[in-house]
Amino acid sequence: MSRLPVPNINGNLFDVTGKVVAITGAGQGIGRTLAEGFASAGAKVVAVDLNGDLLDETKAILDKAGADSATVTTDVAAENAPDRIVEACMDLGGRVDCLMNNAGIMSYTDPRTIADEELDRMIEINFKAPIRIMRAVFPVMEQQRYGSVINTGSSWSSRASVFNQSGGGVDYCAVKAGLQSYTRGAAQAMAEHHVRVNAIAPGGVDTPMHAHHRDFLMEYEKYIPLGRMTVAEDLVGTSIYLASDASAYITGQTIHVNGGMIMVD
Ligand SMILES: NC(=O)c1ccc[n+]([C@@H]2O[C@H](COP(=O)([O-])OP(=O)(O)OC[C@H]3O[C@@H](n4cnc5c(N)ncnc54)[C@H](O)[C@@H]3O)[C@@H](O)[C@H]2O)c1
Repeated sequence: MSRLPVPNINGNLFDVTGKVVAITGAGQGIGRTLAEGFASAGAKVVAVDLNGDLLDETKAILDKAGADSATVTTDVAAENAPDRIVEACMDLGGRVDCLMNNAGIMSYTDPRTIADEELDRMIEINFKAPIRIMRAVFPVMEQQRYGSVINTGSSWSSRASVFNQSGGGVDYCAVKAGLQSYTRGAAQAMAEHHVRVNAIAPGGVDTPMHAHHRDFLMEYEKYIPLGRMTVAEDLVGTSIYLASDASAYITGQTIHVNGGMIMVD
């Protein structure tokens, strides 16, 4: 096994200039902000989303930032989505340096009544699709002997969900916890190839995901030790850190970005 290179502390450890970063769910919310953050930091961004109109808006933002970028309009759960994402990365920059599995959906259905279709869709999008996309990028990263995957978990998943007050969110939290667990296993499997796999676990972010229960979400602001809800911008620094050589020795971890809402070891 070849030795992991030691980071060069005389350069900018956080440099992501020219890195090819694929971000799913980049049409709005957290994913769009991550795409803009990486673009502003000099990365080449492949923005992926189900919604082509939203993706066009994201593309305009990336163009304004002067970034090389491409879009892929697809359901991440589509059979050919993983291959299309890898292809777009190869076309844009000839490699895949970072994959951000960010696309996800929420559910509040009571665990006593959730229908099979809703449960299946939750598992398809929030669990199976990230795994299938990782499966497509891992061989590329293995060949490069370089790569960072960042899966989007959730701070709600490390404890029983506060949303369970209304009897929902159980399946969402369990599926996100599963992705965080998968992150650890995949990190172990890919470590010898110098491919790292980590997760970020955001606290509550006021995005369109919460449009139907925004008041309920914002109720939690008063419990956040750092004094406000998480905003999408809070996730950019951690993501750039995990994509860069500054985190070269970090793998299999879930980093909570939640203002102290839930404090875990
Ligand atoms: N907002 C929060 O409070 C919060 C907290 C913790 C974790 N998260 C996670 O962060 C991620 C982003 O959340 P957000 O709040 O920005 O959500 P959002 O609903 O505002 O945006 C999600 C984006 O993903 C896209 N998308 C949804 N399903 C897709 C599919 N099947 N294929 C391709 N694209 C799809 C949507 O079109 C949208 O552009 C999700 O994984 C979510 O579970 C969010």
